[in-house]
Amino acid sequence: MIAIGSDHGGFHLKQEIMRHLADKGIEFHDYGTYSEESCDYPDFGEAVGRAVASGECERGIVICGTGIGISLAANKVRGVRAALCGDCFSAEMCRRHNDANVLALGERVVGPGLALKIVDIFLETGFDGGRHSRRVAKLMDIEERN
Ligand code: RB5
Repeated sequence: MIAIGSDHGGFHLKQEIMRHLADKGIEFHDYGTYSEESCDYPDFGEAVGRAVASGECERGIVICGTGIGISLAANKVRGVRAALCGDCFSAEMCRRHNDANVLALGERVVGPGLALKIVDIFLETGFDGGRHSRRVAKLMDIEERN
C-alpha cells in the first residue's frame, strides 16, 4: 500500500500519479488534499509520514509546489526518510543508498512525464544494504539523539 498526499500546489500531479498507480494495479491511500483550495503542506506531509512510519503503508509519495515544504514536513516524522527528487538518477539512488521510504516531488518543478518515471523508479528499486545499512542506521540514530 502506498500513501500519497499533497497540498494544493501538488494537487494536479497527485491526481496524475494516482491514475498511474491505479493503471498499474498498485494500491494506494490518498491522504488529501482533496481539492484545489489553498491549504497547508505540513498537514499532508505529516499524514503520509505517519502512515509510512507506523507501517500502515510501505512507502509514501508527497507533492507540493516545489516538493521542499512537504518533504521537510514528512521528514519530521520519526522513521521517515523522505527524498526530494527531480531526476531519475536521484530516484534510483535514494532507494539504493538511502533506503528512502517517502518520495517528494514538486509539481511546479517537474513535468508529469518525468514525475511518473521517477515514481516508477522509486517504487521498483530496492535498497543495496551492505555499507549503506550502517549509514542509514546512523541517520536514524540522529533522530534518537536529538
Ligand atoms: C504553496 O504555494 C507552496 O508554497 C507549497 O506548495 C510548497 O511549494 C512549499 O514548499
